[in-house]
Amino acid sequence: MEVILSGMRPTGNLHLGNYFGALKNYISLQELYNCYFFIADYHLLTTHPNPEDLQQNVKTILCQYIACGLNPEKATIYVQSSVPEVAELYMYLNMLTYVGELQRVAAFKEKVRQNPNNVNAGLLTYPTLMAADILIHKATKVPVGKDQQQHLEMTRDFAERFNKMYKTDYFPLPVGFNFGDDLIKIPSLDGNGKMSKSYGEQATIYLTDEPSVLKKKIMRAKTDSGPTEKNQTKPQEIENLFTLMRSVSKPEVVQQFEDSYNDCTIRYGDMKKQLAEDMEIFIAPIREKIKEISANEEYLKKVVNLGSEKARESASKTIKEVREIIGFKNF
Ligand code: TYM
Repeated sequence: MEVILSGMRPTGNLHLGNYFGALKNYISLQELYNCYFFIADYHLLTTHPNPEDLQQNVKTILCQYIACGLNPEKATIYVQSSVPEVAELYMYLNMLTYVGELQRVAAFKEKVRQNPNNVNAGLLTYPTLMAADILIHKATKVPVGKDQQQHLEMTRDFAERFNKMYKTDYFPLPVGFNFGDDLIKIPSLDGNGKMSKSYGEQATIYLTDEPSVLKKKIMRAKTDSGPTEKNQTKPQEIENLFTLMRSVSKPEVVQQFEDSYNDCTIRYGDMKKQLAEDMEIFIAPIREKIKEISANEEYLKKVVNLGSEKARESASKTIKEVREIIGFKNF
């Protein structure tokens, strides 16, 4: 059966970008395929987290995965660092990876700009580790948001290079996946770029936001002074509000605001109020489930132990075969 894999870094609470860019797909895919969903705690080490935060944040993601509907009986849910075979494959892939190609990666260049004092080798080789995550289970579809597209292209390059080097077709070439469409980007509330914790807490909607916080963030979202010509193109910040509305509101509600934008009668205050209401309807059950599950430490422990065991089984099979292909054979 086709293998699906994806993961998220444990940076804190999940936000709408994580949900609509990736997690929503995980939930549907687990019904159809052999799925691996993990928590990318090795990847987080590039930012040097302190040990207590790391542990707490891993738990947070695990809990939020399950609250959103990931089912540990259907998908394999695991913590990356409990599968050390990933680190071994990462090393092998690094031998086939050129420093120049890693230096050209957009996400790397962005991190260097943001944090010039912490340009570590882990950051540079982030795409190789990500490729190892995917290839360790020979996954073919990877549900991720648009920001991960370049990393996936590199995974395909590395897999192809390995296959060529060892004259094999061992690794399949994985593709990014979003149900029925291109990979997506959920925008930030401040009119800039993608929704992301590192670009502003106030412009990011978390799955844990209480109604008053949610409302405040949405009412403060950036808008302009309104359309002045019929059917005019929307500026980015307005398009962003519509994108958010399309993800949580009913199509007829979105259409009503599209129409009022097009005939210049729109009142952004009304649109934001509606968006805040619909967002609360979407988030409330997830938020409550998160509270319920996080109180159940025993259950979380069971889930993660079961997942790691299943993930290791698959990973150790791959590593054994890769070792043989490379030429490490037992005497
Ligand atoms: P991370 O932790 O930054 O984000 C987790 C997932 O959420 C998606 N995402 C978004 N999608 C749409 N709009 C947004 N504003 C938005 N913000 C985040 C991301 O695309 C991602 O799917 N490198 C990965 C983690 C990773 C991984 C992997 C993913 C490590 N190894 C192997 C897939 C396969 C990352 O940092 O995602």
